Amino acid sequence: MADKKHTWRTAYHILPPKGWLNDPNGSTYYKGEYHIWFQYSPETPLGGQKYWGHYTSKDMVHFTYQGISLSPDQPFDKDGVYSGTAWTASDGSLELYYTGNVKHPGDFDYINEGRGHNVVRVTSKDGFHFSEKELLLENKDYPEDLSCHVRDPKIWQEGEIYYMLLGARRRDSVGGLLLMKSEDDRRTWQIEREFFPDGFGFMLECPDYFTLGDQNVVAFCPQGVENQENRLQNIYQSGYVLLGDRSLSGSSDEELGQAITLDQFTEWDMGFDFYAPQTFVAADGRQILVGWAGVPDCSYGNAPSIEEGWQHSMTVLRELEVRDGIIRQNPVRELDLLRGVRRELGSVGMIPSTCFDLVIERESQESHQDFCLNLNQDLTFTVRKEGVETVASLTFINNSGDGRDVRRSLCQEFRNARILMDHCILEIYLNNGEQVFTTRYYPDQGQVDLQGGLLFELPADCSAVMYEMETGILIPEE
Ligand code: FRU
Repeated sequence: MADKKHTWRTAYHILPPKGWLNDPNGSTYYKGEYHIWFQYSPETPLGGQKYWGHYTSKDMVHFTYQGISLSPDQPFDKDGVYSGTAWTASDGSLELYYTGNVKHPGDFDYINEGRGHNVVRVTSKDGFHFSEKELLLENKDYPEDLSCHVRDPKIWQEGEIYYMLLGARRRDSVGGLLLMKSEDDRRTWQIEREFFPDGFGFMLECPDYFTLGDQNVVAFCPQGVENQENRLQNIYQSGYVLLGDRSLSGSSDEELGQAITLDQFTEWDMGFDFYAPQTFVAADGRQILVGWAGVPDCSYGNAPSIEEGWQHSMTVLRELEVRDGIIRQNPVRELDLLRGVRRELGSVGMIPSTCFDLVIERESQESHQDFCLNLNQDLTFTVRKEGVETVASLTFINNSGDGRDVRRSLCQEFRNARILMDHCILEIYLNNGEQVFTTRYYPDQGQVDLQGGLLFELPADCSAVMYEMETGILIPEE
């Protein structure tokens, strides 16, 4: 049995007070504070009715839970306050746009019949108190070729015009994007265009659109894409396409068709547990990404955390930078504020904690040896040559992954890694954030007392420094 004091609960990754968490929602910087809402099912760790739970932060690493902001209490959202995003209006008020989910009682497939996906808006002057809900769009307002699945609004402005991007499933089960346009105060919307890029399966969820450096970026979560050996290995995917100076509003179907292809789709994260991210702009202009460290409908589970009455967390907040055709992701620099005791590690030994930030550097950049990190004899992370390719692999050796086995990705030779471990989650940032691998990890399945930490083994040509991490998440007692 695990030591009584042992818990899998995360210390610096946003998690549900109890019950279930999925997508981040409404992430924004507003009036001096960061707000992250999340899809929340407080009743059970297995998921259920969806609310918006709320965290705030002054610095993107110390978060305080603020309770539930939005509940399914109207006919147009009675079966779930689904995902959405925030927009700050020119009069300084905060607007939240979300999908109201409705399941009509009856014998329906709930894809082409029986479901309502409505766009709903609430506004606020302070980020804590909200107006009455306004129903803005219903399924009858969307193009006729779409099924009932049209959700997860993202809003932006170009000149005098506002745009809303929604993820959609066509009636014949092809995934696409729906662009709506508003020329008033974002109350009335017209259809601007639909777009169904080739090869992305039956549904696109949680679309995003933003500018990073000199690139317009479109991001979404396709469902129904075939797995490949070294990419696209989860049941559902999450990634982005760099559009250059092409825009969703101004480019022809042909231009978008050439740009948005599976080949040019880069996954945000190559681990087992990543989905439905969203981006927002920090106070100083950095583009920040936060993702759900989980995937719906996957074959692996989280039995150890479910036993404690909760499931899933977010990733840490990541800052984005575009260079050489990819977006690099690194933990927000503020994460250093949570660094406590620092220790230099040798190449074999014990990391005396299960909550740490570990920085590994290859000492000689001339070295072409394989890299292998072994944690606790139950997980390895390797970067190896396979013929002409270099492959990173994350492998569970026993059931410390509760069904997780292997994830692989083509990459550059190993130069460095930053590894964030937070009791039951591991985020591996490879080569200055060129790739990230996020996974749940339950070392030893709680069979031994892990208070002592994790055994590790590293190649001799690497140096490693670890910092014990302090707690960033505060959940006040009710
Ligand atoms: C993505 C998603 C969204 C939906 C929400 C419901 O994980 O399926 O498309 O709005 O979760 O919780």
